[in-house]
Order: sequence, then C-alpha cells, then structure tokens
Amino acid sequence: MALALTSSLSSELKAPSVGAFQPLDRQFNNLTATINLSTRRAVKPLRAAAESRRSDSVAPLTATTFAAPTTEEGVKEEVKIVEEEENFEELAKELANASPLEIMDRALAKFGNDIAIAFSGAEDVALIEYAKLTGRPFRVFSLDTGRLNPETYRFFDEVEKHYGIRIEYMFPDSVEVQGLVRNKGLFSFYEDGHQECCRVRKVRPLRRALKGLRAWITGQRKDQSPGTRSEVPVVQVDPVFEGLDGGVGSLVKWNPVANVEGDNVWNFLRTMNVPVNSLHSQGYVSIGCEPCTRPVLPGQHEREGRWWWEDAKAKECGLHKGNIKENSENQNGSAQSNVEVADIFESDNLVSLTRAGIENLMRLEDRRDPWVVVLYAPWCQFCQAMEGSYLELADKLAGSGVKVGKFRADGDQKAFAKSELQLGSFPTILLFPKHSSQPIKYPSENRDVDSLLAFINALR
Ligand code: ADX
Ligand code: SF4
Repeated sequence: MALALTSSLSSELKAPSVGAFQPLDRQFNNLTATINLSTRRAVKPLRAAAESRRSDSVAPLTATTFAAPTTEEGVKEEVKIVEEEENFEELAKELANASPLEIMDRALAKFGNDIAIAFSGAEDVALIEYAKLTGRPFRVFSLDTGRLNPETYRFFDEVEKHYGIRIEYMFPDSVEVQGLVRNKGLFSFYEDGHQECCRVRKVRPLRRALKGLRAWITGQRKDQSPGTRSEVPVVQVDPVFEGLDGGVGSLVKWNPVANVEGDNVWNFLRTMNVPVNSLHSQGYVSIGCEPCTRPVLPGQHEREGRWWWEDAKAKECGLHKGNIKENSENQNGSAQSNVEVADIFESDNLVSLTRAGIENLMRLEDRRDPWVVVLYAPWCQFCQAMEGSYLELADKLAGSGVKVGKFRADGDQKAFAKSELQLGSFPTILLFPKHSSQPIKYPSENRDVDSLLAFINALR
C-alpha cells in the first residue's frame, strides 16, 4: 500500500526514510513496559520481527518528513515529551477542550509514520482536511468491504485527487468471504445479524491494518450514537486492538472530533470547500456499506440509517467495540454483554473442545500429541484481540504434530475452569505437553504468533 502524502510535500519525500520514532525507540530500550489501559506500553525498539509483520499489514512503504532529532539535546527533549505523554488518560483530559486541529497535530507529531487516519468515505473526510492543515505528512487507510456504494468509491477517487494522496485500502480475506457467501448467501446479515459479515469484511482487515501501526485516528463523535459513543475520549489506549508491538496497550486511538457536533463538522467542510460524498445530498448521514445503510428522514437520528432491522444496542460493527457498555464485570475488568456475540477462533485447523473433551485431555498421562488450548469467552475483548494471532498459530501448526484447541470457559464452565484449569482471566492459554498430564499455563501477555510458538516449541 502506498503512503498518503499531501501533494505540496510529496516532492520532499522521494527518498524513503526510517520511521520517525526509531531513534527515540532506542532511547527507550530499557524502559519497563507498563501494561495498563490508561497508559501506552512503553515505546519499544523496532524489532526485526515487528518490521517483518509491518509489511503484511498496512505499511509496506515507510517514509516521512517528520525529522528525527539529530542532537543529543534534541533527543532528550523528545524523550521528555514522550515520557510526559505516556499517560493517555491524562493527555485526554489535557486535550479535552483542544481543537480537532490541535489534537490532529499532536497525534501526527507524536507518531509520525506509525499512525494513520481511518477513513470511511463519509464526513470523516474532515480528518483528512485537518491533517492537511497541520502541514505534516499523513497516511490514510480505508476498509474496502466490497459492499460500499458506488458513490463512495467515486468519492474515494475524488479525495485522492483533491489531496494528492493514495488511500491505503484494506481488503477482506477472499477465502473467508468465499466461505461466508457460499454458506449463507450474499445477504445473510438480514437473517442472522451483521456481526459475522462485519467481522469478515471489516474487523479482521482492520485488525491486520492496525498490526502495522502504533496509533490510529478515527472520526468517532460523541453525538453519533448516544447509546455507545457518549464517552469517547479524544485519545485513549485502544481497548480492543493491538498495534505493531503486540499485546494489550500497544495501540493508541485518537478521536480528534470526539467533542465536535455533526453540524459543526458540516460547517467546517463547507467553509473549507472540502469534497463530500454525493450520498449526503440524497439524505444519507452516516454511511457504511450499501446493503446496511439507508437515508434518514428529517428528525431521525443518523444511526437509524444503519442496520435498521436490528436492535439499537447492537449498532456497533466491531470497529469500535470498546464503546459498548457492558453489564457485568469480570476479573479482567472487561465484561459480559447481554448481547449474544458470535463465536470466535473458528478455523478448520482448530478443535473446539467440549467439557468432556478437555477433561479427557487432562486425564491422559502420556498423550500422543501435545495440545495448546485457549480458555476463552467470545465477548472478551482481549480474546477478540488475540483472535488473529491464534488463528495464524493454528494454521502454522497444522500438520506439525501439535494440536490447537479452544474451550469456551465462561458461564457454567467458569467455576470448573478456575478450579481445574488455572483460569485466572480471559484468555488463558494452556499447553498440554506430550508426556505430562499437567497443563502448563502461558505466562506472558504477549500473544503474538512468535511468542506463542517459542513457548510451545520450548515445552512441547
Ligand atoms: S461503524 O463502526 O459504525 O462502521 P462509523 O461509520 O460510525 O463506524 O465511523 C466511525 C469511524 O470509524 C470513522 O470516522 C472511521 O474513522 C472509522 N471507519 C468506519 N468505517 C470505516 C471504513 N470502512 N474504513 C476505515 N475506517 C472506517
Ligand atoms: Fe457486511 Fe453490512 Fe457489515 Fe458491510 S456493514 S460488512 S455488508 S454486515
């Protein structure tokens, strides 16, 4: 994917340079990682593995005009800025009354080439305009679900030309789409809800995109959905997705227009003469995929035009799942929703164990193959966050002699899993080695494929 650059800057950017944070990252080599959702995990050095992962996701090209500090003072100064801003809850408070332009500027300055704007093809084009106004280079990505309106595709093209940028499109996995459509048809979401299709066409591609970044910028606003977005902060540690370094807390989410009302976004777009999606002049306000979006009538809330056949409570497609207020807390600090969520970790290379199945596994003193099993709950955001790496692990281990399984350990199974399977919080990953009945609990919060493989290979 290409890098989106303002045309006025593109001539300065011919030679790709390293990501702006590399020198700083080296400074932070010895910082202790803080795994706390109010704090971004301490900036880590770019590892070779992380670099190679990056090329699978949103950023094969790296280039930025964001100048790395060259003098020792410069480095010290920037280190200080990063240290001061590590606490993103504090930063959100500090920036609560800042203008979107100021927030955008802070975000781009801080993350350089490791941040990108998530552009849906609607009025969040305002984000691109703000980014342009900062005068800094910026990147834009979009999730092309394959089901967008023709007007939205035309609009993408118009935006690219207007700003002299290339949008970095993310596409769904063709095998997954094929599986869904061959099994259930093209419009299954009208029958059994939008979650499954959104997961395949939006959430997984988003997860892939974010694995190549350290931060992203969204156009979420508080007034878009009183039910789910009323508390969106201007910046937060992403509660759901992982960034380049992997693990909870490795990604920062910026929402520069969180506190701006829709009318004011439109005033801004008109004043700046920004191109807009022609669907807006046909009564569309919030715009998503063609089959799942319709115009709203005067007085209707914009969200009523999205997934209108469903309960208002379910109207988050998974991109911003962290917004959904949950009902009962569990020990993760995450929680179980009343909304029935679709199962996760689904793959032909992965065995879904019943209670009898896992009990059987526990009884075997000398099993033929080692097993790795995740104890999970489909509604748990940390389980959802590791779904991609666990599925990749299952694919990698297929035919290797190591079996990969999952055991749903919430609800009725929770007490059993706590007393017999060392369940502390979700997800808990267990290795049942070949010659021992005792499962070994994976001790780390790094749930990327390389770390999991190292654990398995060391103990299988
Ligand atoms: S959604 O979750 O219901 O689809 P919504 O349409 O309100 O989201 O958009 C909120 C923000 O999510 C957008 O401003 C944008 O940052 C991001 N977003 C939504 N859809 C996409 C998409 N297709 N591609 C990239 N970002 C998106
Ligand atoms: Fe599928 Fe509709 Fe979700 Fe688009 S919005 S990904 S078409 S369910």
